[in-house]
Amino acid sequence: MVNKITSFGISGIDAFVVDVETDVSRGLPAFEIVGMPDTAVRESKERVRSAYRNSGFLFPAKRITVNLAPADIRKEGAAFDLPILIGILCASDSISVDTTNCAFVGELSLMGQIRPTNGILSMVMKARDIGIKSIYIPQENLAEAEYIDGIDIYPVESVTQLLAHLSGQSPMESAKTKQFRSFSETPYDIDYSEVMGQYAAKRAIEIACAGGHNILMVGPPGSGKSMLAKRIPTILPPLTFREAVECTKIYSVAGKLDGSGLITHRPFRSPHHTVSDIALCGGGRNPKPGEISLSHCGVLFLDEFPEFSSRAIDSMRAPLEDGKITVSRANGSVTYPSNIMLVCAMNPCKCGYLGHPTKKCTCTPAQIEKYGSKISGPMLDRIDLHIDVPAVAYKEISSDKRAESSAEIRKRVLNARRLQFNRYKGTGIYKNSDLTPALIKRFCVTDDEAQKALKENFDKMNLTGRGYSKVLKIARTIADLEKSEIITKAYIMEALQYRALTKYNYKI
Ligand SMILES: Nc1ncnc2c1ncn2[C@@H]1O[C@H](COP(=O)(O)OP(=O)(O)OP(=O)(O)O)[C@@H](O)[C@H]1O
Ligand SMILES: [Mg+2]
Repeated sequence: MVNKITSFGISGIDAFVVDVETDVSRGLPAFEIVGMPDTAVRESKERVRSAYRNSGFLFPAKRITVNLAPADIRKEGAAFDLPILIGILCASDSISVDTTNCAFVGELSLMGQIRPTNGILSMVMKARDIGIKSIYIPQENLAEAEYIDGIDIYPVESVTQLLAHLSGQSPMESAKTKQFRSFSETPYDIDYSEVMGQYAAKRAIEIACAGGHNILMVGPPGSGKSMLAKRIPTILPPLTFREAVECTKIYSVAGKLDGSGLITHRPFRSPHHTVSDIALCGGGRNPKPGEISLSHCGVLFLDEFPEFSSRAIDSMRAPLEDGKITVSRANGSVTYPSNIMLVCAMNPCKCGYLGHPTKKCTCTPAQIEKYGSKISGPMLDRIDLHIDVPAVAYKEISSDKRAESSAEIRKRVLNARRLQFNRYKGTGIYKNSDLTPALIKRFCVTDDEAQKALKENFDKMNLTGRGYSKVLKIARTIADLEKSEIITKAYIMEALQYRALTKYNYKI
């Protein structure tokens, strides 16, 4: 007898439907799984056989063929264990249950317990979208899926518990849908009020956060660059439900949720500079999202920027521009989102003291040139704001005056973001850094004075086409912080200052 159970596989961060077809027929006892299974799926046979026996059934001594359709997409992971087991139980008439409009996912232990798997959130959303009424998922994965409505989600711990429910012996309640609450309070124990002085750097960071722009900080050791960067999450707006779902999907697929529920705070990732290009951008034999995708909707902080391998840095060029990264593999390719705010920090030279007011730089001109050239021009061009973070003066660091707190800065950032959100309704973008050339023309309206200033400085500053759009986008954000719809000369002049590539003059 042939039976069909609905389950799901993962490609990129989205799920696709997999029909698990099981045929149990007479013949020499055999158990085959076809339909492009990977090693974990092939090993499913042993787990299913043991779990089957340990759940109180006699494994059929028949010819069993399991087909995972569609057969042309590679199936990965152990999530097909449960649907295969249910398929065999039904096809061998060991149980009689109606599985139409139901879907099953979960890895099995040899004892018949149901173990958590990656990508459950995407699977539950896909199930709801194709009209599945009930989905059975591992108990430990419930936290990530319980905000999804429109489908009955049953968290299950063991095969025995599931079968008792399906047969009506001891029915379970489906999980209650939770309401998403965006967290307006930030859970951080660090604050901008701890950073003394550095007013210009803080202003630039506020602009970067208000528009979601990339930023590079250059300065001597100990001036507070890492300190400033680490406090960025404290002034970013809360995640919307859409963003929270996207982030959670990525973490779920990458297997980084550890049973915690929906991600409610913007990610902040700061990989070490020894990170490989694959770990940074994603990929590998069984592709997984890299740091750039794990930072989606949040911040990717690259401290000691020139120490990263140029291969790793350059591999970020396309994803930074497109907001997504496509990783090629033997059969097809997968795409992960990567709409991030990139924050980089570096010293101006190897010894760190180039341009320092009191300490002498010990680097030779060649060393200085070599250090600066580690970051390619195209990469620098992608970073919207470049700022100097000079050594902090004694008067400032020893001052008793309380610096502005994160909460105060955050209020202004939120107001600017709200303006952008309302302005871009229906355009598919949410913030100034996402503006496309067509949208820049429509929304970055400058007055005559501002246009003149831009024209005068375009050649003087050797701006690229990208540089020109970036200046307009930053000026748009500055205007939003000032609650102005029109971009005036003052906003353009401030924006131009952030494209001056710092006093150290790295070449583009
Ligand atoms: N502006 C500041 N206000 C208060 N403390 C500061 C400031 N700048 C530096 N510090 C102190 O110095 C320490 C080092 O700062 P931080 O790590 O941010 O420097 P950095 O600029 O990243 O240096 P490096 O280039 O060596 O990485 C901080 O932990 C803090 O205690
Ligand atoms: Mg540092």
